[in-house]
Amino acid sequence: MSAKLKEQSVLVLHGPNLNMLGLREPEVYGRTRLAEIDTQLAVLGKQWGIAVHSFQTNHEGAMVDKLQSAKEDTDGLIINPAAYTHTSIAVRDALMMLSVPIIEVHLSNIHRRETFRHHSMMADVVTGQIIGLGVNGYYLALRALADIIGATAPV
Ligand code: DQA
Repeated sequence: MSAKLKEQSVLVLHGPNLNMLGLREPEVYGRTRLAEIDTQLAVLGKQWGIAVHSFQTNHEGAMVDKLQSAKEDTDGLIINPAAYTHTSIAVRDALMMLSVPIIEVHLSNIHRRETFRHHSMMADVVTGQIIGLGVNGYYLALRALADIIGATAPV
């Protein structure tokens, strides 16, 4: 009988105002609610034996706290830092403490929007970015992470 492998774990961290998805500027961000995205990520994760833990906060310090605790128990990270993408050295520094693969996701194409959104403080410290593909960006990010961390079907 084969030994049961430890389930891998991915943290999905959503930044400020993403709790309003579906209601907030739907022409930019779409009509899908955040809870639907998180549920779908959990379902997808199961296919690869990945436990997906999602967390949303409107507070920069709470993002930093979550990233610090992720250092202990996360095999991969999906992050949409939302507005903090463009401003937060604190979130960037917290990302730099992680040694797991990190995918930065943006629902909208930040390069087609106001110039202050063109720059990401995170861009050069993440493994990769998925930008402008709406909610699919999250699902594609999990797909990529599963591959990178070598997740397999549940044992
Ligand atoms: C966003 C883009 C950011 O510029 C914005 O502040 C957000 C959402 C996106 O997912 O497209 O809140 O990160």
